[in-house]
Amino acid sequence: MHKLIFLFRLYRPQGLIKAFNIILRILILPFWKIDKTLPDTGTIIDIGCGAGGLSNYLSISFPKRCLLGVDISKKRIEIAKKTVGERKNIKFKLENIMGMNFKETNHYLMVDVLHHIPFLQQEKLMLFLSKNLQRNSLLIIKEVDKTNTMPFLFGSLWEKVLYPQEQIYARSKKEWVKILNSLDLKYEILSGSFFFPDSTFIIICSKNI
Ligand SMILES: C[S@@+](CC[C@H](N)C(=O)[O-])C[C@H]1O[C@@H](n2cnc3c(N)ncnc32)[C@H](O)[C@@H]1O
Repeated sequence: MHKLIFLFRLYRPQGLIKAFNIILRILILPFWKIDKTLPDTGTIIDIGCGAGGLSNYLSISFPKRCLLGVDISKKRIEIAKKTVGERKNIKFKLENIMGMNFKETNHYLMVDVLHHIPFLQQEKLMLFLSKNLQRNSLLIIKEVDKTNTMPFLFGSLWEKVLYPQEQIYARSKKEWVKILNSLDLKYEILSGSFFFPDSTFIIICSKNI
């Protein structure tokens, strides 16, 4: 609970709606599962971090977890940067992930990001990350399942409100499994959200050794 209060205080200067939206997302989506899966130390890149809610959530209780949030949206990165203050274990950067050099990072997160990237680029990014994953590194993905019609439509509508300019390139869970099977990765799929059963899922990937 103290994490949520801390988070609310971080975003409160950006307006009540923004602060509530960040908290709501943390409450609805199973970010605690990601928090529990990640080690307490190491460098983590939150790819497509948006306004930084998840990066902040993950960094709050673990000073040895170093978070770098990157996003292509100037507006969202500016909001995220305003939350950093004096903290040393979190940074945000404006960047297009498609041109990024991800070297020397322990873990990668892509939470609700892949379906914002064109299909071919999704595959390129997955291939690149699977090749660059180090021993003991994790790649954690949260995605939506477009075949789960009602929750998917509800989620898409909500995203349309939040990101009206952006196109959605959603796949089914089955298609993701096919892509994962084509890569040199070990993976485990966790159920996503209690509120949208089966529409969202979390994939925990590691190096196949
Ligand atoms: C639905 S939001 C998710 C934000 C955050 N991960 C969260 O869970 O709250 C998707 C984010 O991906 C970002 N994004 C999409 N394409 C990107 C790219 N090529 N490079 C960096 N960020 C990108 C968008 O700007 C947006 O902020």
